[in-house]
Amino acid sequence: MESKSKAAVDLQKEIFLGGLRGQRPVIPSEVSALRKLAERKLSAPSFDYLDGSAGRHHTNLNNQQAFHHWQILPTMLNDVSVRNIGTNLFGAKFSSPFFLCPIGVLELAHPQADLAVARACESTGVPLMISSQASTPIENIAGQMPTTPTFFQLYWSKSEELVASFLSRAERSGCLAIVVTLDTTLLGWRTKDLDHAYLPFLYGRGLAQYISDPVFQRLVRQEPPRAEPPPKTTLTLIRSLWRMASNFPGSTLQNFRTRSTLAAIRKFIEIYMNPALEWHDLNRLREMTNLPLILKGIQHPDDARKAIDAGVDGVVISNHGGRQIDGAVSSLNALTLCKEVVGDQIPMLFDSGVRSGSDAYKALALGAQMVGIGRPYAYALAVAGELGVRALMENFQAELELTMALSGCKNLTEIDKSKLHYRSH
Ligand SMILES: Cc1cc2nc3c(=O)[nH]c(=O)nc-3n(C[C@H](O)[C@H](O)[C@H](O)COP(=O)(O)O)c2cc1C
Repeated sequence: MESKSKAAVDLQKEIFLGGLRGQRPVIPSEVSALRKLAERKLSAPSFDYLDGSAGRHHTNLNNQQAFHHWQILPTMLNDVSVRNIGTNLFGAKFSSPFFLCPIGVLELAHPQADLAVARACESTGVPLMISSQASTPIENIAGQMPTTPTFFQLYWSKSEELVASFLSRAERSGCLAIVVTLDTTLLGWRTKDLDHAYLPFLYGRGLAQYISDPVFQRLVRQEPPRAEPPPKTTLTLIRSLWRMASNFPGSTLQNFRTRSTLAAIRKFIEIYMNPALEWHDLNRLREMTNLPLILKGIQHPDDARKAIDAGVDGVVISNHGGRQIDGAVSSLNALTLCKEVVGDQIPMLFDSGVRSGSDAYKALALGAQMVGIGRPYAYALAVAGELGVRALMENFQAELELTMALSGCKNLTEIDKSKLHYRSH
């Protein structure tokens, strides 16, 4: 694949020359400033859904602080005039080691949601993990990315028939691999969402994969009519029902009248998570698809070993950005623990807490093959749509390239633990 990543010096030149013409970049280059802009732009429930995490947010904090403990120890005079941040995975070539994490309900950030993100990915060559909770069906998202690989992230629901249908849609859409998220068999204790009493799925948001699926549609049709008395009608309830109806395909009025949206949402809530899953269940998943299987949400080194024993093709070391358990180990420390077990047996991808190109450098040095960008791209989407996401990825790529070169490495294989110093506090 032709490299689409812009060289760091070209990006710097473009930005500084733009300054001479009075132009400013579409987003600030520091993610903390970008986050503040996104907060100003979105309603509190929407921003908090995208930004929030579990409990007192300690895991989210740990994720980001862990990067401060690992400090880059640069070396000089290494001829870094020719640089390459490319990598490969499962036979596909990537112009940089970044991927965009699966993030559900992106319509909260921007009306073009996943489509804007996919277009930004296509123009930068950064692969996208398409979420089970996306706001747009997988076929339409993948359709925006004819030359850049996609992954499909699976929430393994209680209906195996639906799982099989999702997997075959992912195969038909040309996805490179299936990413099975293991850490969300129940919804974490997300305090901000609880305080707003707001869960977007109940408004029909983030359900596009389900509503567009023939198996799901049949499951909804098969539901027996509800015998229980309807809830007390209030203005708020009518507004909510109308909003739900407008998020479903077809006429909003018709959806509102028939209450078919309610049936779909009820079905979704009933089946979308499955806390009964165990390691041996992976065998069934293996039989459902020929695509490589990657397990997302691995933190404990024992689980990394089990993943290898289960014969999966890769893992994503991730704690869901601290959205599931409060007070948990940082994902970066989990990466170092898992690296000791995994070695080079299977690829380890990494996410949770990455806020800059230099964070990515550290994750690569500690053994990650690819590094996921999560919340920062949701902020960029909220602030400047497709252009914002594109600028964010270019910034991350440029900073990684410069950090790599300035620390004495010409390519990613030269980045290793010898370039890091650990400071305990
Ligand atoms: C708003 C939001 C929605 C998310 N939705 C999903 C999802 O649908 N599937 C999934 O596997 N992970 C999901 N994640 C987790 C991300 O894939 C990723 O693990 C996390 O964002 C990384 O942490 P960071 O954002 O702090 O870097 C979501 C994260 C956020 C912030």
